[in-house]
Amino acid sequence: MPTQIVRPARSLQGSLVVPGDKSISHRYAMLAGLAEGTTRLSNFSTGADPHSTLGCMQALGATVTHGGEGPARVIEITGTAGAFQQPSAPLDCGNSGSTMRMLSGLIAPHPHTFTLIGDHSLTLRPMERIRKPLSQMGAKMEMVDGHAPITIHGGPLQAIDFDTPIPSAQVKTAVLFAGLQAQGVTSLSEAVRTRDHSEHALRAFGATLTRESAGGPGTIATRLSIAGGQRLKAIDATVPGDLSSAAFFLCAALLFPDSNLVLDSIGMNPTRTALLDVLTLLGAKFRVLTVEEHHGEMIGTLQVNVAPGGLKGADISGALSAQLIDELPVLAAIAPYTREGIRIRDAKELRVKESDRIALVVKNLKAMGAEVTEFEDGMTVPGGQQLHGAAIDSGTDHRIAMAFSIAALRASGETEIHGAEAAAISFPEFFEYLDKLCQR
Ligand code: S3P
Repeated sequence: MPTQIVRPARSLQGSLVVPGDKSISHRYAMLAGLAEGTTRLSNFSTGADPHSTLGCMQALGATVTHGGEGPARVIEITGTAGAFQQPSAPLDCGNSGSTMRMLSGLIAPHPHTFTLIGDHSLTLRPMERIRKPLSQMGAKMEMVDGHAPITIHGGPLQAIDFDTPIPSAQVKTAVLFAGLQAQGVTSLSEAVRTRDHSEHALRAFGATLTRESAGGPGTIATRLSIAGGQRLKAIDATVPGDLSSAAFFLCAALLFPDSNLVLDSIGMNPTRTALLDVLTLLGAKFRVLTVEEHHGEMIGTLQVNVAPGGLKGADISGALSAQLIDELPVLAAIAPYTREGIRIRDAKELRVKESDRIALVVKNLKAMGAEVTEFEDGMTVPGGQQLHGAAIDSGTDHRIAMAFSIAALRASGETEIHGAEAAAISFPEFFEYLDKLCQR
């Protein structure tokens, strides 16, 4: 397994365009595969996960072509006009929970037998959460003890009224994608508003869906409704840069008083920007230099530096933990360098991501000499700590590999990131960009 050495840095300087958003890339690829016509996507994610989705769409009968280089790179997807074909082999979702969960909802209404498989990590992740709503709609699904491989005997589905028990944009999306093709009007309520890329993407492809607040004035609960039998039409779109990938560079910049980082073409969808709120609380100074809207998604240019005196501390719990779930590993990794530390609770979902992210963050922080207290649903990382370089175990988890590369920038000595190649799941260019921006 390749090892990457990360040396300490003095600051981060420069501007950066991160790869297209992973969540949006998955959704555009899936809806393009179902739609009629040819969808053209610029800045599609370079990560391995969305490419697993593209592979599945091809197996289902869509045509995918790649053209151009660098920023001019365009992916064209000619859809199946609402009729997926029987795949000749299992649909390989690789490491991607998003692919497996959202695709299940998209394909369940089609009259074929589908098998969805994935790598070892994906086989450990809970899938019961999609079986529940989809089988209520009439889908016949087989799993192994709530896990992949999944077999779906597809066919006509009925609309349901579903309350999501855990905040999950993937489960919400599976239900909306199935509801789009079911009989009747499917409704779904969520107590915590999760990322809403599926809602924007469905509208972009021509579907109608409604959103109302479900818990009365002042609450964040939402109820979505989508009528079945709607047809989708191809689009031309640019995928905004992935803020969850940019999070590593934002956190890195904040470790040094002299940093100055500009993110170009970055996604700033309000259901994803809880990170900016927390970083502001910690002491980040942001300037939004430009902002515009594409297909309901906000894209802009963002400049960041840190207030004099460095980072303070933060307490992350409740709905905020769900909205920050992908950024918690890197926040925990920089927590020792804050003044007051970071406390994370209500984040049990971290234990069932690509790895047990609570256990691995705690283990790696300790390896670097940090004091940290582990809880079932989070951790407390005291501030004012100096770390030393160490051997880091990525657990083949992309966000762990990248989070500890950032912690390494302020540690003394060199850090070895074992399993560094995992970064390619969402951000293949990560180490190259880190090297370019770090001043040493
Ligand atoms: C995602 C939703 C989140 C997130 C994952 C991507 C999505 O998962 O952790 O990286 O694209 O909808 P859950 O919906 O399971 O919380």
